[in-house]
Amino acid sequence: MAEDEIKESSSKKKYELLEDLPGVGPATAQKLKEMGYHTIESLAMTTARELEPAGISEKKALGIIETARSSIGVSFIRADELLKMRKNVLRLTSGSKVVDRLVDGGLETQTITEFYGEFGTGKSQICHQLCVNVQLPPERGGLNGAVLYVDTENTFRTERIVSMSKHLGLDPEQVAKNIIYAEAYTSDHQMFLLDNADEVIKENNIKLIIVDSLTAHFRSEYIGREMLAPRQQRLNKHMHKLIGLARAFNAVAVVTNQVMAKPDVFFGDAVHPIGGHIVGHTSHTRIYLRRASHGPIRIARLVSSPYLPEGEEIFKITENGVEDASEEDKTKPRGR
Ligand SMILES: Nc1ncnc2c1ncn2[C@@H]1O[C@H](COP(=O)(O)OP(=O)(O)OP(=O)(O)O)[C@@H](O)[C@H]1O
Ligand SMILES: [Mg+2]
Repeated sequence: MAEDEIKESSSKKKYELLEDLPGVGPATAQKLKEMGYHTIESLAMTTARELEPAGISEKKALGIIETARSSIGVSFIRADELLKMRKNVLRLTSGSKVVDRLVDGGLETQTITEFYGEFGTGKSQICHQLCVNVQLPPERGGLNGAVLYVDTENTFRTERIVSMSKHLGLDPEQVAKNIIYAEAYTSDHQMFLLDNADEVIKENNIKLIIVDSLTAHFRSEYIGREMLAPRQQRLNKHMHKLIGLARAFNAVAVVTNQVMAKPDVFFGDAVHPIGGHIVGHTSHTRIYLRRASHGPIRIARLVSSPYLPEGEEIFKITENGVEDASEEDKTKPRGR
């Protein structure tokens, strides 16, 4: 497995349990677990300051984190090793070949992909489709893995999973069993779920982590200008947690985001995604979705990627899920 390969790139000692780490006794291990650190991977992705509430001195915390990092092979690394880590990046199919091509062969592990767009543009439908696709074998574009689905708007529907699974010839019951679902009731709860997800991810071979929607709770809870700074700070923390999990477990991370109309914009695009720069800079790949007509056709635009050019592709969403659109689909009159 890919994360084993990452681990092998380090010649340092490997630890399995928190208790095994030098400097972590049973009492500290217990405190760390209460704070949501159940695995060496999650410790490797944290900062000394975040360990303060466990009563660990900064010096000791730095030592523990460093050991955890070298144990899973994410210490300072040379660029050639970075390249090796990039080689461990796996790709997950979106269901549409042209959309996959837009993002260089599919959604990548170790980073965050953000889908943003107005209501009904297919953000949640894509999330459902990815839940099914990730369970496919690699030769069909999957990762043979399970899913962690954090749903903030109660829009996850098993019925859709059943239709999409049947269409791909998979056993719907089996597919549904591999989707670990959690509804987040508030932004704090949403953060709590990810902060405590590391063990579930490890035990269930989770290869896809979805937060649908990333921003809805934050948007409704933090109202007014004076709340903007704390909101952005929390969102930033939440997204960094997600990146940490995606990297530690070589998983795909997907978030969705609604757009707001910009009433003061007369030129260019009059919508912008919620969360502004924080979300934009932290999402490695941003895909803007919009409707082409009232039919099943959707347009995916790659808006930002660290290394790919911008571009647009047309796909469709039907009862079967996310698919490539045929020439006939594309030329159907509006309103159909
Ligand atoms: N069973 C189905 N068959 C065909 N199309 C469907 C089916 N279910 C959903 N859709 C399409 O997906 C659309 C809903 O998309 P989705 O829920 O993904 O939007 P969203 O971008 O998540 O919106 P929001 O911002 O409100 O969360 C429907 O309007 C419909 O066009
Ligand atoms: Mg939705």
